[in-house]
Amino acid sequence: IKYTAIVLAAGQGKRMGAGHNKQFININDKPLVLHTLAVFERDTWCEEIILVTNEQEREQMEALLERFPSSTPIRAVDGGAERQDSVYEGLSAVRHQTFPVLIHDGARPFVMEESLHTLAETAVDKGAALLAVPVTDTIKQKEGTRLTTLDRNKLWAAQTPQAFQYDLITRAHEEARERGYYGTDDASLVEQSGKEVAVVQGSYDNIKLTTPEDLHKAEAYLNNQKEKETH
Ligand code: CTP
Ligand code: MG
Repeated sequence: IKYTAIVLAAGQGKRMGAGHNKQFININDKPLVLHTLAVFERDTWCEEIILVTNEQEREQMEALLERFPSSTPIRAVDGGAERQDSVYEGLSAVRHQTFPVLIHDGARPFVMEESLHTLAETAVDKGAALLAVPVTDTIKQKEGTRLTTLDRNKLWAAQTPQAFQYDLITRAHEEARERGYYGTDDASLVEQSGKEVAVVQGSYDNIKLTTPEDLHKAEAYLNNQKEKETH
């Protein structure tokens, strides 16, 4: 199987509080976004990477890509105001419309190749698939002052990549645009159109670097990996 990867890097990283887009923060001497791109560059199933960037950071990003050449073609396109708008721009740039497309947060550098392959296979087979892990916390729902406890056995924390047949996800995005609907992930747009999304169980290591605390977790994870390699 071959697939196209859309890597999203057009956010602002406000919760990281670095004063600039978190994609450029160094983790063990390498910018976050390059760690994420490297996962796809190493994967022989990945035919092309579409990197969605901020218009204002386009030059900075292209300079980075020049400094760290990739054997997999990477094309940069401008994103939009919301994550969903950025995905839409990414989808519009896809060339191989018969390949499944994997949509991934640039802020998740630790996704495993095995997960990418299972996602691609499931997307070919079933049309739509997302990576998720069982929730470990007890989740409460608060409406006004009233708390209820959700059944943890039914709860999954959604991650990325989320993988789709190209036509299916493009149609779901177009429908959402027409209705002015914004979801927090791509799978929700497919769910809205009444179609099923398959769950692929991922790893708890596949964190999204969101707050400054996550940077420490990321460095600890990388150092741990390095240690494993040398033993
Ligand atoms: N993203 C994007 N375009 C947007 C918003 C987000 O491409 N308009 C990307 C981010 O770059 C990130 C991913 O979507 O890789 C997940 O979003 P999130 O973790 O929320 O990142 P940011 O939006 O950058 O962070 P924050 O919400 O804290 O500002
Ligand atoms: Mg955001």
